[in-house]
Amino acid sequence: MQHLLSKQLAKLTSTRLYRVVSALCITIAILVMQKPLWNSQILHQWTFNRQQNVPAIPLVNENSTVLITGVAGFIGISVAKFLAEHTKAKVVGMDNFNDYYDVALKYKRADLLSHWNTVQVFDGDVCDAPVLRSILEDHHVTHVLHLAAQAGVRYSLEQPLSYVRNNIQCFVTLLEELRRLKGSSNDSVVPRFVYASSSSVYGGNVEIPFKETDQVDNPSSVYGFSKRANELLALVYFKVFGIPSVELRFFTVYGPWGRPDMAPYKFTASISKG
Ligand SMILES: NC(=O)c1ccc[n+]([C@@H]2O[C@H](COP(=O)([O-])OP(=O)(O)OC[C@H]3O[C@@H](n4cnc5c(N)ncnc54)[C@H](O)[C@@H]3O)[C@@H](O)[C@H]2O)c1
Repeated sequence: MQHLLSKQLAKLTSTRLYRVVSALCITIAILVMQKPLWNSQILHQWTFNRQQNVPAIPLVNENSTVLITGVAGFIGISVAKFLAEHTKAKVVGMDNFNDYYDVALKYKRADLLSHWNTVQVFDGDVCDAPVLRSILEDHHVTHVLHLAAQAGVRYSLEQPLSYVRNNIQCFVTLLEELRRLKGSSNDSVVPRFVYASSSSVYGGNVEIPFKETDQVDNPSSVYGFSKRANELLALVYFKVFGIPSVELRFFTVYGPWGRPDMAPYKFTASISKG
């Protein structure tokens, strides 16, 4: 692929020096993109909610079962693979394999995970409370990484209701299941909860770099609003029901198995088409 891209870039440029420099830059960029999304330091630092002073999340070990929602997605596949390769935890993934982008890509990602017998993938929707409940209970889930969502800022202007359903309704469904577990037994069975938020919560904020302490009440998209709604809902469930959570505000993530609607994928496709 590097060769193809370099060739395509060379076609677009006129002087020899410019060709060499451009091809070199794009090759370096592609190599940097091969960096793994997760490393053990990030995973191990994942453990502390600074704003609410919630105790650290116990690290995953051979007794852990991690539920990853949205496991067939871009970030989900990398985390599941990382856990399978570097920990002894069991992984239970769920995904509804929706057609927001090429479903074949999602199935290919999920297929990759069949290589490990510590990983199981289910076709299921997070808004489906009974399915969620049976996964949480039958697999004795100890950690939940909630990545399933309708992603994409632009698409949220076309299909806002998809965000209300997948990002807000499903989020509350999951919180309710955690609350039910907490109510039905002691705290030790309530899985630790980590979920994906987004830099889109900063919306129309102009001061950069963005800080965690910035006001985030100025969303510019339904997507950003839905992620901010998640953060506020998580806060309510912590204050009212004692369910702690850790939010991760991802900024444009890149790497292998990327999303076709994101810039690296789109640029690569355009370059390879000349
Ligand atoms: N990729 C980024 O740069 C980025 C940036 C900020 C935030 N995020 C957030 O990170 C998370 C993962 O993003 P991604 O880039 O991997 O997106 P993705 O679209 O590749 O993955 C999301 C997965 O969730 C699944 N899904 C959607 N709704 C579902 C539902 N109701 N039930 C079950 N599965 C469902 C989809 O089929 C998909 O496979 C999302 O919450 C996204 O909003 C991503």
